[in-house]
Amino acid sequence: MSDAVADQRWPWWPLLPLYPYGRRRTLVRELVPGLVWGFEQLQGLFYVAVPIRMTVVRLREGLLLYAPVAATAEVIQELRSLEARHGPVVTIVLPTSSGLEHKLPVPAMARAFPRAQVWVSPKQWSFPLSLPLDWLGFPADRTRVLFEDGVPHGDALSWHPLGPVNLGIGTFLEVAVFHRSSGALLVTDALVAIAPDPPQLFDADPRPLLFHARERGDEQLQDTAERRRRGWWRMVLFASYFRPEFLQVLPLAEALALSCRVGVRQAEAYFGIYPFRWLPGWEADFEALLRGGQPHLQIAPVLERLVFPRSKELLLGWIRELAGIDSLAWIIPAHYTAPVHCTSQDLCNFAGELETRDWACSEGSWRFLAGLDNNLLRWRIIPRSVQN
Ligand SMILES: [Fe+2]
Repeated sequence: MSDAVADQRWPWWPLLPLYPYGRRRTLVRELVPGLVWGFEQLQGLFYVAVPIRMTVVRLREGLLLYAPVAATAEVIQELRSLEARHGPVVTIVLPTSSGLEHKLPVPAMARAFPRAQVWVSPKQWSFPLSLPLDWLGFPADRTRVLFEDGVPHGDALSWHPLGPVNLGIGTFLEVAVFHRSSGALLVTDALVAIAPDPPQLFDADPRPLLFHARERGDEQLQDTAERRRRGWWRMVLFASYFRPEFLQVLPLAEALALSCRVGVRQAEAYFGIYPFRWLPGWEADFEALLRGGQPHLQIAPVLERLVFPRSKELLLGWIRELAGIDSLAWIIPAHYTAPVHCTSQDLCNFAGELETRDWACSEGSWRFLAGLDNNLLRWRIIPRSVQN
C-alpha cells in the first residue's frame, strides 16, 4: 500500500477560496462550421480549475444555448454577434438535474435574453432545502420542463434522457440533444474525452496549470510547455478522482511553512499554500485516461463510481439509444475535448467495451471515490438497490 493510500486524513484544502475570483475569461470556438459553437470558461472548485463549455446551436428560429456558462459581458457580446448573423437566442437549456456548475449560470443568462424560453431537465432539486425553480431565479412564466411539457424544436433536434438515478439527497438526470443538421450530439457530464495537452483556454492565463506543476509550495511558477502539461495532468487527476492514489496531502503546518515565499504570494498561487506531494509513478494514472496517447470517449470516473456504480445497465441502455442515431458525427460534452468525432458504430463498440470491462472498481485511484460511495451507503443516504 502506498503512503497516499495509507494517509486517510480528510483533506482540509476544500476550505480554500474558489477560482477564478470573479475574473472569468471566455474562449469562443466554432465547433461545426456555421452551425455549432463552444463557449469555454474555467470554473474552479477549490484548487482545481476545470474547463466548462456552453454549446450554441443554430436553428431555423435562431440560437439554442445548451448548458449555459456565466453570462459575463464578454459572453453576452459574443452571443449578440452570433445573433446578428444567425437570429435571436430563442431557447436556453439546463440539461441536468444535479450539475450545479451548469445550473447556477442559468438565471442570469435567462435575464440577458428575456424573450428566450428556458427548458430544464426533469427532477430539478436543490440542497439542503428543495426550493422551487422561481426561488432560484428561473423565470416562472417562461420556464418549461423537458418531456413533461414536451420538447422544443422537435423538427431539428432529438432529446435523449439519461436517468433518473436516485442519489439520496437528489436525483441524477441528464438530457442529451442531437442536432440533425450538424450531426452533433450534445451531452453534459456523462461522456468525456480527455486530451494530453491543456485546452487552449489556458493560453490566456496558464497560472492554474503552473501552480499544480510544482513539487513544493515555495517553488516559483515557471512557464514552460512541459510544466503546463504536467499541471494539466494533475488537475485532471484531481477532477477525476478527487484524491488520486499517488497524491499525498500534507499536514497544514508543513504546507504553511512553505507558503508566502517571495514570488508565490498572489491569490492566484493560493499564497504559496500547496498542501500536496505527488509520489513517483503518478503519471501512469493520467496516461490510463488516454488511449494510445490520444483522447477517447469514456465515462468520467466520478460518474462511474458515484452515480452509476449500481446502474450500469441504465447507462448502457442510453448509450445504445444514442448509437441508434444514424447521422451521428460528433459528440460535444460540457467538459474537456470537443468536438469528439464519433459515429453510431463507434458508440456501439463503446457500449460493448463497457459491458465487458470491470465496473466501478475500488482499487488504486478509485479508492477515495469508493470510500465516499460506501459511506453514503452506510449512512443510508443512497439506497443499496437500484430504484429510481
Ligand atoms: Fe458538469
